[in-house]
Amino acid sequence: ALPKQVKIVEVGPRDGLQNELAVPVEAKIALVNALGHAGLTYIETGAFVSPKWVPQMADSSDVFAGIERLAGRTYAALTPNLKGFEAAVAAGADEVAIFGAASEAFSQKNINCSIAESLERFAPVIAAAQARNMRVRGYVSCVLGCPYQGEVALDDVAWVAEKLWQMGCYEVSLGDTIGVGTPLHAQRMLSAVAAKVPMEHLALHFHNTYGQALANIASCLPMGVATIDSAVAGLGGCPYAKGASGNVATEDVVFMLHGMGIDTGINLNQLVQAGADVCQHLNHGPRSNVAIAELAK
Ligand code: HMG
Ligand code: MG
Repeated sequence: ALPKQVKIVEVGPRDGLQNELAVPVEAKIALVNALGHAGLTYIETGAFVSPKWVPQMADSSDVFAGIERLAGRTYAALTPNLKGFEAAVAAGADEVAIFGAASEAFSQKNINCSIAESLERFAPVIAAAQARNMRVRGYVSCVLGCPYQGEVALDDVAWVAEKLWQMGCYEVSLGDTIGVGTPLHAQRMLSAVAAKVPMEHLALHFHNTYGQALANIASCLPMGVATIDSAVAGLGGCPYAKGASGNVATEDVVFMLHGMGIDTGINLNQLVQAGADVCQHLNHGPRSNVAIAELAK
């Protein structure tokens, strides 16, 4: 049955802006604040990763220091290892996320280690977080395909998701990193993972590269999944490829959910404005059909 309510995990300030031209820290702070005011309760605010790998996230401490902390909001950060975790704690992150992959090749390229090694590095992060009563979210990348290896076995996806869950992640977010999934594949993948991790602890994290993300989400909602990751204005993609798309746009997800009678607690007008404002600092406008339509009114 369809969920009555869906939690949106807003990843625009992190997943989006990590793949855009550099944005001034003031604009990042304004974006996070605007998203909070629009009703987003979970905002992935930055990443404590190597600045050599992802220079766009190097100012994450300044972003955390500058934002308004609205009540009932979670301001989260990506942390690949203990060094990142300690920086996230110092910056005042409420929650952290570790990120693994279902593809060996992607794990090597993204975090410079094998899947097995990545799990070894995550264990002390989870322990340190638990010692502080901080929750840890887990990502699995390449759940519907890998840019290096191509097809990814559903068993591999389910195996890594189950590991992260068993290690103590309260939620496992399933990433279609390159947006190649299609609806029936997405359903089969979710069903394989849900056999290992309870559905209420799963989230969908679909990129819209091939325009399939909303269709994939719609096909999975009747299976009971109730947490969706998305980025305002469809932020992300690639700073050097003008047409490249990022995460599914939050505006599009919210419009669809509200149309289906599913509550999100988000004010669509304020959300659209938040996306339009941050795009002033980018080389493109919002990559959300809903935002484009609303802004043209
Ligand atoms: P490494 O080079 O193997 O690490 O990188 P290392 O431990 O050998 O350290 C190398 C250097 O990095 C050292 O500095 C460390 O101090 C530094 P140096 O001595 O050379 O000056 N370092 C750090 N600096 C800042 N913060 C840290 C940190 N750790 C080490 N936390 C590492 C390993 C994981 C650090 C690196 O590969 C990395 O930062 N990778 C991050 C890549 C990334 O951020 N990717 C994007 C996010 S994942 C994603 O977008 C997918 C997702 O959205 C889901 C989906 O869509 O599928 C989540
Ligand atoms: Mg992503």
